[in-house]
Amino acid sequence: MARILQSSAVILAVLLPLVTGLGLFKHGRPKHGMLGAPLAKEKYNLPPDMWFKQKLDHFNDADLRTWNQRFFLNGTFYTPGGPVFLMIGGEGEANPVWMVEGAWMEYAKEMKAFCIMVEHRFYGKSHPTENMSVDNLQYLSSEQALADLAHFRTVIGQQLKFDTNKWISFGGSYPGSLSAWFRLKYPHLVVGAIATSAPVQAQLDFPEYLTVVRDSLATSRVGSKCNDAIQAATHDIESLMMHMTGWEALAKIFNLCSPLNGTSMNDVANFYETLAGNFMETVQYNKDNKAFEGGSNNITIDTLCDIMANDSIGTELSRYAAVSALLSDGECVDASYDKMIADLRETSWKSEASAGGRQWTYQTCTEFGFYQTTDTDHQPFGRHFPLSLSIQMCEDIYGKQFNKTTNQAGVNFTNTNYGGRDIVAFNIVFPNGSIDPWHALGITKSTDMYTAIFIKGTAHCANMYPASPDDPAELTQARTQIRDTIQKWLSQ
Ligand SMILES: *[C@@H]1O[C@H](CO)[C@@H](O)[C@H](O)[C@H]1NC(C)=O
Ligand SMILES: *[C@@H]1O[C@H](CO)[C@@H](O)[C@H](O)[C@H]1NC(C)=O
Ligand SMILES: *[C@@H]1O[C@H](CO)[C@@H](O)[C@H](O)[C@H]1NC(C)=O
Ligand SMILES: *[C@@H]1O[C@H](CO)[C@@H](O)[C@H](O)[C@H]1NC(C)=O
Ligand SMILES: *[C@@H]1O[C@H](CO)[C@@H](O)[C@H](O)[C@H]1NC(C)=O
Ligand SMILES: *[C@@H]1O[C@H](CO)[C@@H](O)[C@H](O)[C@H]1NC(C)=O
Ligand SMILES: *[C@@H]1O[C@H](CO)[C@@H](O)[C@H](O)[C@H]1NC(C)=O
Ligand SMILES: *[C@@H]1O[C@H](CO)[C@@H](O)[C@H](O)[C@H]1NC(C)=O
Repeated sequence: MARILQSSAVILAVLLPLVTGLGLFKHGRPKHGMLGAPLAKEKYNLPPDMWFKQKLDHFNDADLRTWNQRFFLNGTFYTPGGPVFLMIGGEGEANPVWMVEGAWMEYAKEMKAFCIMVEHRFYGKSHPTENMSVDNLQYLSSEQALADLAHFRTVIGQQLKFDTNKWISFGGSYPGSLSAWFRLKYPHLVVGAIATSAPVQAQLDFPEYLTVVRDSLATSRVGSKCNDAIQAATHDIESLMMHMTGWEALAKIFNLCSPLNGTSMNDVANFYETLAGNFMETVQYNKDNKAFEGGSNNITIDTLCDIMANDSIGTELSRYAAVSALLSDGECVDASYDKMIADLRETSWKSEASAGGRQWTYQTCTEFGFYQTTDTDHQPFGRHFPLSLSIQMCEDIYGKQFNKTTNQAGVNFTNTNYGGRDIVAFNIVFPNGSIDPWHALGITKSTDMYTAIFIKGTAHCANMYPASPDDPAELTQARTQIRDTIQKWLSQ
């Protein structure tokens, strides 16, 4: 084992979520919340970083370049012959706290499994190239990531003598899709896959996201008042946007870091999107028990909607601003388009964008789309951030060849390659949460091949987090159903 796996005893000072949801990287900017409070390290005995040698390009035999991929092991619960659980990393740094907690660790305890988590190439500390130049990012794709997993599974299987054990893959959000696709493409390497909140259908324009946000906000205790107030606030902003004194007023009301330039279409669109982002993020992560990984989860749909419906705070516009102030934690709000683009053009591993913004945006521009636009009337945020804005961003960040045509072709290939919603693969569980906007691109019906689990009232990836006494009964039941399904696969 020591030959290939070298361990470094570095334990991360700052822990980032494993399941950094796609919404956090909406247009590349990890908004607030991504860097949760550092965990009390002493609370956990976290496993050390381990490194695995991977090829840079799995699809070119002539290219012999390699790099080191990070992974973590926890064999505490393992007894010989038991299963191996593989947690797939995604579009952010892999957080080793998942090696100690989370629903999958409960299953591991019960089923005496060996637990492994692998970080996704180009994220966290898994750096296949010297920097993130556009030329280097050509090696960032879901296909290369799946080939990494396959090679890892094969070699580690031999090294640790797990080649005949039954492997199960786990993942939530984008890694949820990877988990399903791993089972699809390499069915001999895993006997089953848990694909939580997995957007398996790639789609360039994804306005349905905001429609689910609207519907989820309507489930708050103030009901439809929440969306009505957002719509009224949006109208107020539209009026102010018509003249220069209005731009000044908006910059002040929303505590912007720099003046609002109402003649710049991109700044205006980015401003509207930033404000809508407060609601998108809150809905996606509503009550998700993520506190254990350093996130804070006390701001819920009800928190925001109580503010939007509270007459004593002032006009709808003031309430919209109050929501923004609450989520920006007293800091000024950065809505400048050019600043955002400049940040995402940074290619250094030391840049802020390397936390995932530059890499994930690249994947959306080449493979997935998933642009959460306002291209539908069935949402309260106006029609201010259309598909053209997202396409513009791809071109501005990576270059003119990342245009609408190449982006659509990439999305088409993703669905051709994996099957989209028509994926044909056995032994996959697709849990989905009713208020999670991503369910709109997920698997909605169980078939003979796979199981869809619908969890009423929960958000993105809820079933992966540790159980809490406040969990809805449906969530508890979903965790049980997942466990029973894994047990069934193991006994086959
Ligand atoms: C493995 O997980 C168990 C259960 O959470 C924990 O007690 C143990 O410290 C972990 N081991 C490592 C090396 O992290
Ligand atoms: C990025 O890395 C490549 C090698 O992969 C190197 O040729 C290039 O100079 C680097 N660019 C910057 C800006 O450091
Ligand atoms: C505002 O935006 C317009 C259009 O992009 C640009 O021409 C102008 O220079 C900007 N004004 C300022 C003060 O930045
Ligand atoms: C949420 O928790 C943080 C600390 O964890 C606290 O500072 C903040 O005031 C809380 N917010 C609300 C709305 O309760
Ligand atoms: C409305 O806001 C006021 C002032 O911030 C606060 O005192 C009151 O509790 C809020 N009412 C509700 C129902 O949240
Ligand atoms: C998009 O980029 C591709 C590749 O560079 C190019 O062939 C194509 O003409 C471009 N299309 C448009 C509409 O700009
Ligand atoms: C993508 O697929 C759609 C539907 O099959 C097709 O109409 C479109 O021409 C394709 N676009 C590209 C760029 O391949
Ligand atoms: C989630 O899956 C269930 C099947 O268990 C399905 O009935 C439901 O429509 C799905 N929900 C959504 C919102 O996709």
